[in-house]
Amino acid sequence: MHLRLRGAFILIAFAGAMSLAVPAYAYNETGDPRYTACVDCHGVASVSVNGTDTERQGPHGGYIATSRKCKACHYVHSAAGGGRSLLPEVTITEACEICHDGTGGSGVYGVLIARGLTPAALHRVDTTRAVPGGDPVTGGTTQTVFVGGVGGTLGCIDCHSPHNASTVASFTGDRRRIATDTAGVVSNRLLKRRPTSSDVTASVYGSNWCGACHKGRIKFGSAGVVNHPSDTTATPGYFHYAAVQVLTTVGVSTTTSGTLGANNFGYVLPDPRTVGQGAHRPICQQCHEDARNVGDKVFGQISSGTPTETFVVTTNDGKQPGDNPRFQTFPHESPNSALLVETDDDLCTNCHTP
Ligand code: HEC
Ligand code: HEC
Ligand code: HEC
Ligand code: HEC
Ligand code: HEC
Ligand code: HEC
Ligand code: HEC
Repeated sequence: MHLRLRGAFILIAFAGAMSLAVPAYAYNETGDPRYTACVDCHGVASVSVNGTDTERQGPHGGYIATSRKCKACHYVHSAAGGGRSLLPEVTITEACEICHDGTGGSGVYGVLIARGLTPAALHRVDTTRAVPGGDPVTGGTTQTVFVGGVGGTLGCIDCHSPHNASTVASFTGDRRRIATDTAGVVSNRLLKRRPTSSDVTASVYGSNWCGACHKGRIKFGSAGVVNHPSDTTATPGYFHYAAVQVLTTVGVSTTTSGTLGANNFGYVLPDPRTVGQGAHRPICQQCHEDARNVGDKVFGQISSGTPTETFVVTTNDGKQPGDNPRFQTFPHESPNSALLVETDDDLCTNCHTP
């Protein structure tokens, strides 16, 4: 832990200097003397904004005879003592945060604190082995031995494959990575088909992916535990993040097949249900995603009014408080409890007319 704190102080000092000197592409891009050229981190010499799917994966995968990406993470002769797999830092988290450093507010962790907010819900790393809703029978908490965090706790590589090996199908996400980027990067986010503790393979990112760890939250109507129904691989033509029913536009109650990413049209279900929705249930991510205003059932979304309900992301990492969603940090951290899109009855009335 003290290593990370030390890093934070140095980096804050660098961030101040950086904002005057060079345009910052992402946090810590010139702060660490071991990683200075674009190629040191991205694995390729030139990086264009908004590149293709594989270009957006930096040193993670895409290994060919002439690429030099391994050395971005593995130090053949000068790795950290007490670490593992010849990584430059002792813990996996520290190794990832050489580049994905959230202490300055650019990243997937630490963004809320940098903007003066306290996260209400988190997937904490290096902290816990307890999975809420992990027991498939009772729906209670289970203890799991993870591989990514210190002492068997949850860490980055329990969900992500650093080498982009055995990962899910690509999908459209919400997040901008730098200010001049656009929302809607299409990639697999290095999500493992088999997150640690899973006993099934999730080829797409949807309920089953979350249910790999939260085994007791995916069951509906089994003996010991009853959850709100979710669409899973057990549902014929099952919905997942890249394929749900979304509103066709604002102010309507018609839907079409589309992605949850880069719009808010998939978080409201017209009631009565549309033909496309049929007997499908919501996926976990229709209730658990970045906090935002999404509108209501029946009349869908309105484009005007306060707060606005349409998807608006104008910059990166929550710098514009008016963005909807302001933060694109799910499932790492959220200002809403239980990582919910909306809270209380505001959530239920997205899809139900009581
Ligand atoms: C210290 C490592 C590091 C260095 C050096 C670095 N980058 Fe990055 N860059 C990153 C990381 C990590 C991200 C993703 C940030 C995120 O998702 O929070 C990123 C994101 C980007 C993006 C936005 C994503 C995209 O593909 O459009 C661009 C563009 C980019 N960098 C360009 C550059 C250029 C050009 C250089 C050299 C001048 C450079 N970077 C040097 C680590 C680095
Ligand atoms: C983005 C960082 C990163 C890059 C780039 C990277 N690795 Fe790894 N590598 C890791 C991490 C993290 C682990 C897991 C460490 C652990 O579980 O102890 C790992 C583990 C390994 C292992 C141990 C066995 C295994 O697969 O878990 C080998 C061997 C390995 N990497 C080789 C390579 C080679 C060869 C390349 C380039 C083709 C490469 N790595 C590129 C981060 C990286
Ligand atoms: C690799 C296992 C794993 C996967 C995959 C996973 N989770 Fe979790 N989840 C955990 C653990 C462990 C915790 C406890 C984290 C903590 O205490 O900081 C947790 C906590 C939570 C919480 C409670 C957070 C809070 O602070 O109240 C929610 C909600 C949640 N997960 C939902 C999801 C959703 C939705 C997905 C899919 C997008 C998902 N999880 C994927 C392991 C996982
Ligand atoms: C519980 C599982 C889980 C853990 C633990 C986790 N992530 Fe993620 N991460 C995800 C998921 C799911 C996404 C895709 C979210 C989306 O696009 O909607 C993601 C996305 C990302 C992205 C891409 C964001 C973008 O711009 O699209 C980065 C970078 C990332 N994670 C880094 C990390 C790092 C570094 C750690 C550890 C410090 C970590 N993650 C821990 C599940 C996890
Ligand atoms: C040497 C720098 C470096 C290190 C170390 C590093 N990454 Fe990355 N990572 C990058 C860059 C560069 C990108 C691509 C950013 C872009 O162009 O969009 C990236 C992208 C990602 C993405 C998004 C991939 C996608 O499909 O969209 C995830 C998730 C991620 N990294 C997780 C991790 C995890 C987990 C670790 C630790 C095991 C790690 N990274 C270590 C530089 C690094
Ligand atoms: C209809 C909306 C909805 C759906 C769908 C949904 N959840 Fe939840 N979830 C909630 C709400 C609301 C909470 C807040 C705590 C509560 O009321 O139990 C919650 C809490 C949680 C928690 C933390 C507290 C606990 O008791 O475990 C986890 C973990 C979780 N959900 C995982 C999932 C997973 C995994 C899926 C998909 C298989 C899922 N949820 C689907 C609404 C939903
Ligand atoms: C993203 C849309 C969505 C949200 C948000 C949502 N639901 Fe549902 N809910 C559904 C769908 C779809 C079904 C399946 C039946 C149907 O179409 O109405 C369902 C079914 C139900 C059922 C009937 C379960 C059974 O036994 O068959 C109840 C009760 C329910 N929801 C309560 C809630 C509550 C309480 C909330 C808020 C915490 C909530 N729902 C949020 C979409 C949603």
